[in-house]
Amino acid sequence: MSQKKCPLNREQLEELTKQFPTPFHLYDEAAIRANARALKAAFAWNPGFKEYFAVKAAPNPYLMKILRSEGFGADCSSVPELLLSESVGLSGEEIIFTSNDTPAFEYQKAVDLGAIINLDDITHIDYLEEQIGLPELVCCRYNPGPLKGGNAIIGHPEEAKYGFTRPQLFEGYRMLRDKGVKRFGLHTMVASNELDAKYFIETAHLLFDLIKELSAELGITFEFINIGGGIGIPYKPEQEPVDLQTVGDGIRALYEKAGFTSLDVRMECGRMVTGPFGWLVSRVLHKKNTYKQYVGLDSCMTNLMRPGMYGAYHHVTVPGKENLPHDFVCDVTGSLCENNDKFAINRALPPVDIGDLVVIHDAGAHGHAMGFNYNGKLRSSELLLRENGEVVQIRRAETVEDYFATLNFAGLNNFKV
Ligand SMILES: Cc1ncc(COP(=O)(O)O)c(C=O)c1O
Repeated sequence: MSQKKCPLNREQLEELTKQFPTPFHLYDEAAIRANARALKAAFAWNPGFKEYFAVKAAPNPYLMKILRSEGFGADCSSVPELLLSESVGLSGEEIIFTSNDTPAFEYQKAVDLGAIINLDDITHIDYLEEQIGLPELVCCRYNPGPLKGGNAIIGHPEEAKYGFTRPQLFEGYRMLRDKGVKRFGLHTMVASNELDAKYFIETAHLLFDLIKELSAELGITFEFINIGGGIGIPYKPEQEPVDLQTVGDGIRALYEKAGFTSLDVRMECGRMVTGPFGWLVSRVLHKKNTYKQYVGLDSCMTNLMRPGMYGAYHHVTVPGKENLPHDFVCDVTGSLCENNDKFAINRALPPVDIGDLVVIHDAGAHGHAMGFNYNGKLRSSELLLRENGEVVQIRRAETVEDYFATLNFAGLNNFKV
């Protein structure tokens, strides 16, 4: 099985639930750090290499502070994400602002922080210049369209709303150059949850070739390429993680062949940075036997919406029962009034009893972060297993007061109907 085992066993989890009731997300600091170091090691040949953690994947400042201490920057696409980055001491070019359909106030905050601005569209050049002024360093997002096939989650690049077309890129950098921009980067993001290492090597190849052409035609020099995020994780037991060294070595070979010496390679992965190292821990509330067998948990799509939203597979284990025969086929459900609120469908589990703990794996990225409050469901807490074995709460669970915080009930008194 390629899934990262939950670092706590049944007894340890039961003990933890005395202090922190289920459901909760649990992250493993030691595993996150080890993985961050493996990524950096794969690109150690490139002195300017930097991973900008995609904050959207796990927008928790405690996790971000750990990643910052490993040398990671932040990839942001909203003011709250910029503020989170600022809260952990990130600033300037440690932040890249990769947004789309962006309002001026968000560009303003990014520019105030000195973040690298990654433009999504040629029309944003004039928009940024008029609203805020152009910074010295600008990056543009390339959408290669039919030149690069997409994958199931991100779709095909030509149908994706992001980025400049190839002709727009030449025109865009020309405009930026003529408007006095001095420093340049080139970005693309053409994959999501991709497990084939070759995909990332090809992406770098595409950008290396493009940089040569752009530089030759426009007489500008590029400081970095950013190959985006999208490194997948093995959600399914039969899948294997992407070999980071293969990605690093493959890109290095192309880099050297192309004769680059000072170009920095950057990426902005989220999923592979925290995904396998976070688990949603929940408890069985009910069992139901109708046309199918159902196991109902005390969590729901609010805590993890990937299965309901994309039919995504998340591995499910029952702590303490890992070695029992898995011959109980059931749907594992949450409590939303939506039939897609299922963590697993027709999944073979060991015999499950009411009160059992259930662990949903690979929930450390695009997990808690995607939570929503439909049906009045509240987001759970986030816990962190520190390297010394201590478990600390890094976000409390939402309360009904949080849910109602935007409503003025007192106003009902004067509201005549
Ligand atoms: C611009 C951008 N960068 C990075 C990421 C992170 O992707 P992943 O978590 O799959 O690595 C995303 C994901 O949506 C994105 O849109």
